[in-house]
Amino acid sequence: FAVVDVIRTKRDGGRLSDEQIAWVVDAYTRGEVAEEQMAALAMAILLRGMDAGETARWTGAMIDSGERLTLDVPRPTVDKHSTGGVGDKITLPLAPLVAACGAAVPQLSGRGLGHTGGTLDKLEAIPGWRAELDTAEIVRQLTDVGAVVCATTPALAPADRKLYALRDVTATVESVPLIASSIMSKKIAEGSSGLVLDVKVGSGAFMKTEERARELAGAMVEIGAAHGLATTAVLTDMNTPLGRAVGNAVEVAEAVEVLRGGGPADVVALTVALAREMLALAGIDADPAEVLASGAAYETWCRMIRAQGGDPEAPLPAPRHVETVPAARDGVVAGLDAYAVGVAAWRLGAGRARRGEPVQSAAGVLCLAKPGARVSAGQPLLELHTDTPERVPDALAALRDAVTLADTEVPPTGDIVLD
Ligand code: URA
Repeated sequence: FAVVDVIRTKRDGGRLSDEQIAWVVDAYTRGEVAEEQMAALAMAILLRGMDAGETARWTGAMIDSGERLTLDVPRPTVDKHSTGGVGDKITLPLAPLVAACGAAVPQLSGRGLGHTGGTLDKLEAIPGWRAELDTAEIVRQLTDVGAVVCATTPALAPADRKLYALRDVTATVESVPLIASSIMSKKIAEGSSGLVLDVKVGSGAFMKTEERARELAGAMVEIGAAHGLATTAVLTDMNTPLGRAVGNAVEVAEAVEVLRGGGPADVVALTVALAREMLALAGIDADPAEVLASGAAYETWCRMIRAQGGDPEAPLPAPRHVETVPAARDGVVAGLDAYAVGVAAWRLGAGRARRGEPVQSAAGVLCLAKPGARVSAGQPLLELHTDTPERVPDALAALRDAVTLADTEVPPTGDIVLD
């Protein structure tokens, strides 16, 4: 094949053949197709799209660029993936809960991306906890504990790793077939038998409208079906941060509250709803709400953290500097913008400005008043945590219009599961 012909086919709105897709993804991974050629092809795909067959084949080519794990464990395997949100710590209570119900949960996770937090960055707030495991360690922990949350190995879908970095700097991230194939190639290569997708919709999500989120969910479910991975999707609200905590250590603390039977109602409800979906896929008849209340999920959490070198009882890092944002007047909180809170937590040090930078474990934002709360003038609405107080003005700038106050009661929002 000549790569220029492949690019031209897509540029002119044509369909890529199975052979063209397999060749171009493989040749790109090996460095034979240049970055600028793949950039042109990615832009042509973003503008012209790919149909379901092309997208499934593209995903297959990315899986074939690396290893596929074989999870030989004595329980049904089931995984969850969230498309990313603000305060989305659900993996932390969910993985041990579903394991305590009898499934094996291989949760290969990532680090923060832009204003959305990363599960590994959060767990690294726990003293001693280690993200990098090899395949033998993953299988052993899945067998012994039932849950593992760790870094994806570089051997899984290397084509995606390369392509994702290119898309990030060529304005080609926001393409449904490219996002869907990127996510699903990693999840299929991970080797689990079932997958529940939590597709976020709203200001704090990649997909800002329900229509776009439905399109992405549909594309991913179709890819799963084409590759024999039982996949279901739910659409959930991401206009307001999940729970009260946004950041690293603060989100771990909130997850532990949930595992100990407390925690914010929205976090508990979404954890239990996703657990039900996962258990249905795994064919396990258990009531996750009962298992959560019994303390069994918390016990599994402690074993999961210890298995990766962490001390679940150790105090979490505290910030050097705390600052509150007060209510400007009396009123009822009508809105709390997830994107603004995510950006503020990121600027306080919970996320990175450059790839590979360390994050601050103690940085983040606590949302002290969520939509529906009545507040009086001067009452703290948000609490900013950081080790570097010089970052506070930038965080405050992001939060300028984050909270909307109304004069009267607002109808309750927070419909969690839309679909
Ligand atoms: N997450 C991914 O893994 N890939 C994308 O393309 C977007 C979000």
